[in-house]
Amino acid sequence: MSGKKATLTIGDKSLDLPVLSGTMGPDVIDVKDVLSNGYFTYDPGFMATSACESKITFIDGDKGILLHGGYPIEQLAEKSDYLETCYLLLNGELPNAAQKEDFVGRVMNHTMVHEQLQFFYRGFRRDAHPMAVMCGVVGALSAFYHDNLDINDAEHRRIAAIRLIAKMPTMAAMSYKYSAGQPFMYPRNDLGYAENFLHMMFATPCADYKVNPIVAKAMDRIFVLHADHEQNASTSTVRLTGSTGANPYACIAAGIAALWGPSHGGANEAVLKMLDEIGDVSKLDDFIERVKDKNDSTKLMGFGHRVYKNFDPRAKVMKQTCDEVLTALGIHDPQLELAMKLEEIALSDEYFVSRKLYPNVDFYSGIILKAIGIPTSMFTVIFALGRTPGWIAHWLEMHSAPYKISRPRQLYTGPVQRDFVPMDKR
Ligand code: CMC
Repeated sequence: MSGKKATLTIGDKSLDLPVLSGTMGPDVIDVKDVLSNGYFTYDPGFMATSACESKITFIDGDKGILLHGGYPIEQLAEKSDYLETCYLLLNGELPNAAQKEDFVGRVMNHTMVHEQLQFFYRGFRRDAHPMAVMCGVVGALSAFYHDNLDINDAEHRRIAAIRLIAKMPTMAAMSYKYSAGQPFMYPRNDLGYAENFLHMMFATPCADYKVNPIVAKAMDRIFVLHADHEQNASTSTVRLTGSTGANPYACIAAGIAALWGPSHGGANEAVLKMLDEIGDVSKLDDFIERVKDKNDSTKLMGFGHRVYKNFDPRAKVMKQTCDEVLTALGIHDPQLELAMKLEEIALSDEYFVSRKLYPNVDFYSGIILKAIGIPTSMFTVIFALGRTPGWIAHWLEMHSAPYKISRPRQLYTGPVQRDFVPMDKR
């Protein structure tokens, strides 16, 4: 509570609403009391609505700041690693050496999936989108790990959290192997988290795959950059689903489905498709004109964000990582040049400047993923894998205190009550 009050005047009635202060960010008007006074609030798209209280992640969209547990994303990307960031999200503090060793050990101990799960994959068409497969198989985990599904038991919740973080790379790699017609590769717990994922993606039983440390580091950093982003659409979906008491695997499957859309995680795949479609620098001006045309639905994918009205700090790190990886691997990618030119035009064009549209995390990630051999259809799966600890951290946070089922109201504009019209009178 800030001690401040907001006064809402409706006709001759006036209502004092408490103003709440967080540790950072704008104050929040607590509007709960409007209900007992006969009103709902209206905010389609939740543009100005805080749906919960949270300690996990803070974003200042105007300044381009992203903090997990107070730590800037740039520092985590440079000095931490993915599993340490997962620990931070789940526990609110960085681990000491013993805690980290224990956490990494527990995650790597749970990487294998139930042998029977492979038959789920075999039920899909080989050309199914891997995100479609992931929605199905992650949801199916609740059919395999139902021994620990009591959401009111903190130990059960903790085991589900570890299992999900541990098994996502295995299931993601299996969705790729299935589409490629190659045998599934078992996880190797002697490898690091990102290394193990690359091993399951690219090794085959007849040829071992030596994981390039540059590639493994880049992969790990991509996971760190995606780990959490406060109340985005997929995380809010996980919280909303969780508020019904649904099991964690069902909640994460719901999050994966929400992430798939091109306005959210599906944008990384859409960026590469867009660069392919543009083809070369000579077509850029035409493309930008289409994006600006109100009668054309074309968007500049990888640009714009609901919260950031400045550079997405993840995009800055992603661009730097992109340069480092391409240089280290000796790859010259004309799509990177195209992307940089596109960014240059967009950052100086009045349309984008006046709307504060800056590159987001998805703008450069696809170029790195392509350079390390990840097929385009797997890009959003990689986002889902990286985002899993964030989803779980929010699910755990919600369950660590009393919560209500999420049940928004509406501004009804349909027909008023009327009597049923028999068929012969319609
Ligand atoms: N290209 C062209 N115009 C855009 C774009 C874009 N990428 N993004 C927003 N605009 C325009 C939009 O048409 C609107 O113009 P006007 O005021 O003339 O109607 C104005 O900018 C405000 O946009 P909005 O749609 O009201 O903004 P929003 O907050 O509802 O949408 C967004 C945010 C991310 C859905 C949108 O910027 C977008 O579709 N971007 C492209 C998809 C993308 O890259 N998504 C990844 C987001 S970051 C990863 C993640 O967190 O999921």
